[in-house]
Amino acid sequence: VPEGDAKRIDGKAIGRRIEEETAAEVARLRARGISPRLVSVAVREEDASFASYVRAREQACGRVGIRSDVESVPPENPERSLVEAVERLSADPTVHAILLKMPLPPGVREEEVFSRIDPRKDVEGHHPLNAGLLALGRPRFVPCTALAVIEILSVEAPVLAGKDVVVLGRSRVVGAPLASLLLRKGTDATVTVCHSRTSDLPAHARRAEILVAAVGRAELVRGDWIRPGAIVIDVGTHSVEDPGSPKGRRFAGDVHYPTALPVASRITPVPGGVGPVTTAVLLRAAARAAGGQA
Ligand SMILES: NC(=O)c1ccc[n+]([C@@H]2O[C@H](COP(=O)([O-])OP(=O)(O)OC[C@H]3O[C@@H](n4cnc5c(N)ncnc54)[C@H](OP(=O)(O)O)[C@@H]3O)[C@@H](O)[C@H]2O)c1
Repeated sequence: VPEGDAKRIDGKAIGRRIEEETAAEVARLRARGISPRLVSVAVREEDASFASYVRAREQACGRVGIRSDVESVPPENPERSLVEAVERLSADPTVHAILLKMPLPPGVREEEVFSRIDPRKDVEGHHPLNAGLLALGRPRFVPCTALAVIEILSVEAPVLAGKDVVVLGRSRVVGAPLASLLLRKGTDATVTVCHSRTSDLPAHARRAEILVAAVGRAELVRGDWIRPGAIVIDVGTHSVEDPGSPKGRRFAGDVHYPTALPVASRITPVPGGVGPVTTAVLLRAAARAAGGQA
């Protein structure tokens, strides 16, 4: 086995396993007469990325037997349209899970929209109630990307107690909820959270037994930032220019993979790392919402 392959964490395989479990759960729900349904709410866009967003959702839901619809709202007065859509779907008993295409358009106050989602349908953990439960150490629905990192670590480092984990980034969708999950009693990692005002980011990164990069900066983390033998989880997703590749562009993460690979013991690739696990945990959350067992 080439060294690179042995070190690469297979996010697709982890995602597949979660999707298989979810498909079985969906089958049990259907046997009870429940047809799980997820609705994504998005402000209509004219570009191709909207169509591919819709397609990707439908494909993923189709794999596990969840019905998926996209509710596209007009771009005029987007905050009011989003609030209306979210309130209507929250009241609709045939809808079990509500997803918002992020980021919301400029000018939309996130809190105004998030707080109108029925917390029992809030599969991405946006609602203040779900955010609060996470802060109290009693997570119910949490942001799927943060949960995906936990899923990967449950395979790669089953015992996190006492481990030095450094999280680069403190956003409300990734870094901050991930830190809360890692700090929980029973998980018990020692967590450092870094952000744009951290002085000497590489020095913090180098102490990590487990390093999570969620900074949103392509290939910021270099091999010499990584402690030899560390597990590296790369949350970043970027499309960068690359004259050498056929389309002139390629995917990249927040970690510079070629220099990180020789130093790390295990590392997630981009694509094929955190992404497929994030999709799978979202589907699982939707099935749980449908079963009323968040
Ligand atoms: N794989 C997936 O499923 C998935 C899902 C969501 C996001 N992502 C990707 O994950 C990455 C992070 O996403 P996000 O939503 O968390 O991004 P974000 O909202 O832009 O947050 C980035 C965080 O990194 C910090 N940061 C930015 N530049 C930094 C620097 N030079 N040094 C130190 N800290 C820095 C910011 O600090 P401040 O708080 O001080 O501003 C912030 O806390 C992005 O590449 C995104 O595309 C992937």
